[in-house]
Amino acid sequence: MRRLEVGIVGTGYVGLVTGACLAHLGHSVVCVDIDREKVESLSRGEVPIYEPGLEEVVGGALRQERISFTTDLPATVERVDVLFIAVSTPPGEDGAADLSNVASVAREIGASLARRGEKSPLVVVNKSTVPVGSGDYVSMLIEEGAEGRDVSYYVVSNPEFLREGSAVYDTLFPDRIVIGTDSREASEAMRELYAPIIEQSFPTSYDPRPKAAVPFIVTDLASAEMIKYAANAFLATKISFINEVAAICDLVGADVTNVAHGIGLDSRIGSRFLSAGIGWGGSCFPKDVSALRSIAREYDYESTILDAVVAVNDRQLKQVVSKLQRELHTLKGKRVALLGLTFKPNTDDMREAPSLKIARTLDSLGARVVGYDPVATGPASEAVPQMKVVTDPYAALSGAHAAVVVTEWDEVRNLDPKQVAGLMAAPKLVVDGRNVLDPASVEERGLLYRGFGRG
Ligand code: UGA
Repeated sequence: MRRLEVGIVGTGYVGLVTGACLAHLGHSVVCVDIDREKVESLSRGEVPIYEPGLEEVVGGALRQERISFTTDLPATVERVDVLFIAVSTPPGEDGAADLSNVASVAREIGASLARRGEKSPLVVVNKSTVPVGSGDYVSMLIEEGAEGRDVSYYVVSNPEFLREGSAVYDTLFPDRIVIGTDSREASEAMRELYAPIIEQSFPTSYDPRPKAAVPFIVTDLASAEMIKYAANAFLATKISFINEVAAICDLVGADVTNVAHGIGLDSRIGSRFLSAGIGWGGSCFPKDVSALRSIAREYDYESTILDAVVAVNDRQLKQVVSKLQRELHTLKGKRVALLGLTFKPNTDDMREAPSLKIARTLDSLGARVVGYDPVATGPASEAVPQMKVVTDPYAALSGAHAAVVVTEWDEVRNLDPKQVAGLMAAPKLVVDGRNVLDPASVEERGLLYRGFGRG
């Protein structure tokens, strides 16, 4: 394997995980961020996010001197073979992705490129999720930054498919690697960069390896950018679809977990992302689904399917409240425990977490809301100050008239129903927003169980 010099701009989720994993493969990686304090703490091996395995990979790469952190983008542009842009593209007010971070980085790359001298063209890789057509926009901004000087580079799209909570695993063992470019030289550089993953030849403690060779797909730029949006939108659609089926299951007395199992075994459908419940949240699905709808609208196309996917997801949250109201009647003065606050387990990310909307709604209806989460206590109480946040699930449940399983952390799944029943107040309602509890064993202990689509 040829050791490449790699730069990563942005040490957020995607940038840090990508940088650390590329260093683990044997490349020499420099991560750039404008936040000096973050750069200093990362240089000491302090990882600011909760992500299983990431601290070990960063620590290992630091010890082997394969990764470094800096605020100096111009020096990085001069030195590296491949430069990733991995800065955030948050949704603007109209739902479209805000590209201002990408734009300022691209301009600065352009301004620094002229000083690269005789080095081969810089491969600029877009890893941020950007609207279709942004590759050309980045080229335009690089030229703008270069102010007429002769600069040599390629812009490549390399969409990211990692999931929070299993980001390191997903990066080292992906289902596929997608590259969008019409330059053969750039796609060959990317193939070289990812060779240890494509061939699954890097050192790993996974034995046997979970993947054989990994497909490496080269497309045009626009298709690669579209693959990212289409993948996330499809997964969100799959979840909203099963949630729609769950609502019908509730009406006809069927159990959606059985239905999902039965349809998922059809290999054309597949069993993953068919868990019904509160619905999807996080920093990706809501942002990307709304960005894709907004891209379509720019061309005067209204996406009927995506509109429905969002509508079903919004309805799921309302269902939590109506399930509580049906059993508790008025929520005024009732104590409701929210179990799990992050948008999914194994992350400390609270962005677009369903728990926040649920907490605010319940509070506005007069309920006393108590939240429990194994990791995200600080951010949760900051986001909803009216909610009391505790670190012991049993303390949250003590005296609660109802509990809602919002996020399926192991700490929530494994609660002892007998102890829970002893602590709660009548009617001891448990709304299982993730369908992870066994209704029979919960009810056996005197708790009232309500799932999503479980008849
Ligand atoms: C998602 C995609 O899965 C990644 O492939 C993609 O790279 C990433 O977005 C991104 O664009 O950066 P992530 O947001 O980390 O990853 O989380 P997921 O595990 O996909 O879960 C998203 C939401 O769907 C969560 O709120 C989860 O609770 C919910 N979900 C997931 C369900 O309600 N049901 C399911 O069956 C699966």
